[in-house]
Amino acid sequence: MAAPDLSALTEILQSRPQDPGELLPLLTLIQGRYRHLPEEALKAVSRRLAVPLARVYAVASFYRALSFKPKGDRLVRVCCGTACHLKGSQAVAEALEKSLEVKMGATRSDGKVTLEPVNCVGACALAPVVMLDDFVYGKFSGAEAAAGLPL
Ligand code: FES
Repeated sequence: MAAPDLSALTEILQSRPQDPGELLPLLTLIQGRYRHLPEEALKAVSRRLAVPLARVYAVASFYRALSFKPKGDRLVRVCCGTACHLKGSQAVAEALEKSLEVKMGATRSDGKVTLEPVNCVGACALAPVVMLDDFVYGKFSGAEAAAGLPL
């Protein structure tokens, strides 16, 4: 995979105050821009905030929403919380693996889609829940999963 174009990194770094408390907001912005946290960006954050690189990695690895590996253009998340599990999220996940042609927790080889599990997203009344980027699909059935998502 080609190295990401980091030309927007300076703008991102300068968009937030030069304060160690800005570590997570900056990592979130970088994740949003590049769909992962490039190593060079982590080093730049460390320098900008005067935070040890080990601390930057510790925070980056703690949050599931942050990733060291590039995610796909579209992010499909299957809720695996208790309510969704009881309502059949496992069958939904298996059907999505087939229709999207990607295993759970992986990014398709063409880089178009990442499929991953997520813990409760706070919409239990709509279980089982699937998210496509920031859009929530409630009461999602295995048949809908087999038919695919509007990618
Ligand atoms: S368990 Fe799935 S939204 Fe709460």
